[in-house]
Amino acid sequence: MSYEFPIAKDTLIQAARNARIHAYAPYSKFAVGAALISEDGAVFTGCNVENISFGLTVYAERACISKAIEDGKRKFIAIAVVSDSKEPVVPCGACRQVLAEFSPELRVISCTTDGEVAEFALDTLLPSARQGILG
Ligand code: THU
Repeated sequence: MSYEFPIAKDTLIQAARNARIHAYAPYSKFAVGAALISEDGAVFTGCNVENISFGLTVYAERACISKAIEDGKRKFIAIAVVSDSKEPVVPCGACRQVLAEFSPELRVISCTTDGEVAEFALDTLLPSARQGILG
């Protein structure tokens, strides 16, 4: 995949690793960190925040996009996600839809704590994100 990347990919992954340290995941014990980079090079991080009422859990990806929107950003280049899993995780369907709202062609870089990296295009993970919605 070739595209302009304003900072080293490893720097974005490291930001996600740092965010993961603060994850609140006492129920699943599955801590996730994410870091989103906007087209002007700003980085926003997030981690999962679980709740005893499971449905209220905030996912790492949605945590960081909320921060970015609050800071006035609308276009993003890539998101890095870090988790302690055998294979790199891909964002769930709900997070894909929320990310696609702003940047349907976002790059998704997923990394395990052991350093295995996988990269995807969001429009491949979630094709037709807007089809049939609101006309
Ligand atoms: N989780 C995320 O925050 N992002 C992902 O991409 C995968 C899953 C969180 C939600 C929940 O707190 C825990 O990981 C287990 O699903």
